[in-house]
Amino acid sequence: MEQAKQVELVRRVLEHLRTGTTHMVEEESRLPVAPYLQPERLEAEQRLFRKLPMIVGHASQLAEPGDYLTHDSMGTPLLLCRTASGEVTCFLNVCRHRGTRLVAEAQGRRKQAFVCPYHGWTYDSTGRLRAVPDEVGFPSRPSESVGLVRVPVVERLGLLWVTLEPGGPDVDTFLAPVMPDLAGFGLEKLVAYKPHTMERKLNWKIAIEIFLEAYHLRYAHRESIYPLFFNNVGLVDRLAPHIRAIFPKKTIQELGGQPEAGWELRKHANVLFQLFPNVLLLVQPDHVSVSTVHPLGADRTEYRTFWLLPQLPETEKATRYWEKNIEILIGAVQEDLAMGESIQSGLRSGANEFVRLARFEQGLRYFRDDLDAYLASSR
Ligand code: FES
Ligand SMILES: [Fe+2]
Repeated sequence: MEQAKQVELVRRVLEHLRTGTTHMVEEESRLPVAPYLQPERLEAEQRLFRKLPMIVGHASQLAEPGDYLTHDSMGTPLLLCRTASGEVTCFLNVCRHRGTRLVAEAQGRRKQAFVCPYHGWTYDSTGRLRAVPDEVGFPSRPSESVGLVRVPVVERLGLLWVTLEPGGPDVDTFLAPVMPDLAGFGLEKLVAYKPHTMERKLNWKIAIEIFLEAYHLRYAHRESIYPLFFNNVGLVDRLAPHIRAIFPKKTIQELGGQPEAGWELRKHANVLFQLFPNVLLLVQPDHVSVSTVHPLGADRTEYRTFWLLPQLPETEKATRYWEKNIEILIGAVQEDLAMGESIQSGLRSGANEFVRLARFEQGLRYFRDDLDAYLASSR
């Protein structure tokens, strides 16, 4: 993020602190409850997911030729590899003989080819079928024509983006509104650490929405992270279809007396990007966390996070430092997801036909409006 932009955002925060206000829109609004509950709605959303660029990992997870990564969160088994020539490839992780899962592990390095555990069909990292045991049984000679099914993958900002089906925006057009903000954080130079997965009983949209406002901090995080923050102060800006949310920490007040040229927003605020539709990318003072939210059902969701660190910890002290950081974040996220599960069962009760959004809960309004617009246009 450019210095001028950081200064502008810090100034806005300081002005809200001076006047005892927060960033709000003109109107209070309402969101209908049905979209959190309906299986048909979820199916439409899942079809949309398949057409949008989805984050499946970080390039550092495929640092060397032969490195591979599997990904299953979208319900489609994927295998990503770094080829001998350094390219990242992505395939359906499915053998072309009778459909066995080709690679079982989450991640690894393999100098040799991928051998199907069932009958030994063998593929290289470009997806080519290299060997078929007893190929005499296949007069069609699959080793001459068959390969793993390729899925488009690109690397942007060091992140790996997969698009399962054509018909949606290309990744550059899609990311253009957030690129100026994200470009300066050097995400491509960081290294991925420790993917962590949780499964919770809530609609995936709730798992996104609970991070888009600062109204809940004082209550939901009273015993954990709230003491670092202000009560209900935040900036929530639309970079459609994405959202940037700035939740300032108390230390931001120190900046008022310091030269603007040295203002570093990430040191004094949680800088959160919701990358449409299902990513929460949180820029912290010395690292970044990337969470992806994937629906498993209308009221079941996978919440997966990996951390991007300047380098992998090499000493016990460094490991302890990052583990502590991770524990704090996961602790806060668990508090959020517990509220989300509570919301989900409350919505199912029929008590509310709609939920009410305060003028400072505009992030939820933006998210729902963009989602509805994408669903309408992808029908
Ligand atoms: S299913 Fe893979 S070799 Fe038979
Ligand atoms: Fe929270």
